Amino acid sequence: MAWIRACGVGDVEPGEAITVDVDPPVAVFNVGGEFLATADTCTHAESSLADGYIDGTEVECAWHFAKFCLRTGRALTLPATQPIATYPVRVEDDAVFIDI
Ligand code: FES
Repeated sequence: MAWIRACGVGDVEPGEAITVDVDPPVAVFNVGGEFLATADTCTHAESSLADGYIDGTEVECAWHFAKFCLRTGRALTLPATQPIATYPVRVEDDAVFIDI
């Protein structure tokens, strides 16, 4: 476990997400000003969840439309059945840090 700087607070608009280029990649979501971090790769195949459709605290994968809860990582709809990892987030000095 290690805290790393993922991005600046202004780098992710509300309702948007970015991919952080770590291994494995992490997605940072801005949910109405709150930042949430999950694994970026969908557990169904290899799609980037940061490229998915964000609806509140859920993301819908852009490939086959599985939905995940951004807080718990739980797979909410098929075709995904496995959860995505979630990571602790801290905001400090206008930067978003994630514990990976
Ligand atoms: S790759 Fe995400 S639902 Fe298939």
